[in-house]
Amino acid sequence: MKAKAADPTYPWEEPDDFITWMVRESFKRETFHETSVYHLAYRIVLLNFGGITTTSIMVGPIQHARLTPDAANVISALREEAERVLQEHNGEWSKSAVAKLRRLDSAIRESARVSAIGGNALARRVKIDGFTLPNGLAVAKNSTIGVSMDGIHFDEAYYDHPYVYDAFRFSRPREEAEKPRTNEDLVTTSVHWLPFSHGLHACPGRFFAANNVKMILAQLLLDYEIRPFATRPPNVAIGDMSVVPVTATMMIRKRDLKA
Ligand code: HEM
Repeated sequence: MKAKAADPTYPWEEPDDFITWMVRESFKRETFHETSVYHLAYRIVLLNFGGITTTSIMVGPIQHARLTPDAANVISALREEAERVLQEHNGEWSKSAVAKLRRLDSAIRESARVSAIGGNALARRVKIDGFTLPNGLAVAKNSTIGVSMDGIHFDEAYYDHPYVYDAFRFSRPREEAEKPRTNEDLVTTSVHWLPFSHGLHACPGRFFAANNVKMILAQLLLDYEIRPFATRPPNVAIGDMSVVPVTATMMIRKRDLKA
């Protein structure tokens, strides 16, 4: 990039990608933390976690759908929807086709409810001089506060039978109602559903991520059979996060569409 800046005839085209944007910004700065290769690489690793690992983590818990007592019906209802929607859209996944995957959307939203990445959400550092909560608890400046995501996700006040994985909890009202409800899909955050956080800093990548996760799972349903686990392998704790076990082995095979 420096050679190109010095000599525009230098035989190299600058790519339009994140690494290039980041390096270009670093040329405007001087501190070691903003210019060293180590720190640039570190930011890529962080971005990979923020944008890619999270997506893989969200795909994983859909195994819940295979663990419910009703797994066979849930899987065939999801597969039927994927086949129907893909057919209606001439065999191509487009944004509008993916938006029609309402049952799958619900099954993923429900997975994220019962198996969110962390037990806590909305971690924030208190920057003001401190305050007192209505229950009398004094919160000092610089303390870190947050809310208990699991506490909310498993609260009967918000969810009927909160400990039950009900794949179509969110799509059932939409499929049954004359006017479909639109406020409980995978990208809609609320104070009762926090996997993408909520409010000003709610994940801006969630629209992209939701499309990705739905396409990955729809294609898996269409092309493969996955042998259900007898029991779900336990999650692994990383700090205060709880993620799918990366060492667990799954049996997977191509579907025999002639059968
Ligand atoms: C399933 C996948 C994903 C999950 C579960 C997820 C979850 C989250 C969560 C919980 C936050 C914290 C918000 C807060 O502090 O209140 C966040 C922030 C953020 N996410 Fe995601 N995310 C995902 C995918 C992505 C993708 C694909 C991108 C970018 C392409 C992305 C970009 C961001 C950014 C830039 C922030 C910071 C927002 C801010 O502080 O204002 N995320 N995400």
